[in-house]
Amino acid sequence: MGKAVSTLTLRKYKEEGRKIVCLTAYDYSTAKILDRAGVDVILVGDSLAMVALGHKTTHAVTVEEMLHHTKAVTRGAEFALVVADLPFMSYQVDVTQAITNAGRFVKEANAQAVKLEGATEHNLMIVERLVGMGIPVMGHLGFTPQSIHGLGGTRVQGRTADEALSLLADARALEKAGAFSVVLEMVPSAVSRIISKKLKIPTIGIGAGAECDGQILVTDDLLGKYVDFKPRFVRRYANLDEVCTDAIRQYAHDVMNRDFPNDAESFVFPEDEEQDLLRKLNAQPVG
Ligand code: KIV
Repeated sequence: MGKAVSTLTLRKYKEEGRKIVCLTAYDYSTAKILDRAGVDVILVGDSLAMVALGHKTTHAVTVEEMLHHTKAVTRGAEFALVVADLPFMSYQVDVTQAITNAGRFVKEANAQAVKLEGATEHNLMIVERLVGMGIPVMGHLGFTPQSIHGLGGTRVQGRTADEALSLLADARALEKAGAFSVVLEMVPSAVSRIISKKLKIPTIGIGAGAECDGQILVTDDLLGKYVDFKPRFVRRYANLDEVCTDAIRQYAHDVMNRDFPNDAESFVFPEDEEQDLLRKLNAQPVG
């Protein structure tokens, strides 16, 4: 493996036309697999609310929960850049709240960057302040799950020329504020192509076509492990739901048929010790 990935590495990759590979992780063993496989950026996404905690939206996850999972991921990631999502209502109230919470991800959980959704004046101010303090920020535009209710559901964003222009303006504003990259979610391919060309910082697409500078997916979607629903933009590279269910059924079968554990999976008590034990037990008073 090469050197650890930094925000500068990602910028260089964009300049070289080398695509950036990003995935989500919420735990140590998954982070290790992604890191070993050469993933550039591991996002501890607030999608963990749905995928790991079983909520219907991303809203419920707390800063404490995100910190807990981010700590596990950073223990497993040696090379990949770890970005932690700032959860819903952890940065929207005021800039002090945003800085305090973002700082915890770096200080307590070892994250190298944080991500926030949208490019409101408030958010741009947060980005500027965090970047000024040495905390890199990834933006997130297009469909922003924390605003699902305000957006009227899970829908493609930037479908008209005016909407596309507004997305471009937001992306430029994030770049100007100092963001090191921006996720574009559920945006028509032509729009993300234009945005990617106009920005110096890398765009990371999810449901945004092939011409973003990088791609991200939720790892559990890619592995077919989270199957509550499958967004159109997900490509499944495995069917872990089926693989795991089959393996666990086989385990249950083996336990019930006294086939697990076998001798090789158990620890031996020496024969002479067993005889001695039986003798000693027999010599004990009954009861
Ligand atoms: O929370 C998440 O997992 C995300 C991405 C998939 C971009 O924000």
